[in-house]
Amino acid sequence: MQLLVLHGPNLNLLGSREPEVYGRFTLTDINNKLTEQAAAAEAAVRFLQSNHEGELIDAVHEARSWADGILINPGAFTHYSYALRDAIAAVALPTVEVHLSNIHARETFRQKSVLAAVCVGQISGFGWRSYSLGLQALLAEIKEKRA
Ligand code: DQA
Repeated sequence: MQLLVLHGPNLNLLGSREPEVYGRFTLTDINNKLTEQAAAAEAAVRFLQSNHEGELIDAVHEARSWADGILINPGAFTHYSYALRDAIAAVALPTVEVHLSNIHARETFRQKSVLAAVCVGQISGFGWRSYSLGLQALLAEIKEKRA
């Protein structure tokens, strides 16, 4: 099983970016955890962090040729990127949306995800564990669809 993990804008700054909101784990820490977790489930993960909407969209398109599913923290694109939403809908790969913070308990503009409706589901508010729970959910979803 091959999975794409996408991290959106400003997530390269994790560890030092508003640690009271996003925690102290760096992106490398999170990626290492996911690599271990995936390996234990005999899956492989590829990672991309980008601050550029088009680059994330290109990665979603390319995933069509090699990935079985996508785990994505779209960062602020969550709240307004119809283009990223359309890309996810277009490739029709099972996709799980994750957020470190609980977006529903934050500013009004963060409470809406324009991507959630084209994802299998959303996990929000568990810090770095949102990624881990998201990966678990994505693997289970793919396996169940295959069975
Ligand atoms: C975030 C929440 C977004 O509102 C924010 O713009 C981010 C991170 C999260 O993981 O909690 O960049 O996606």
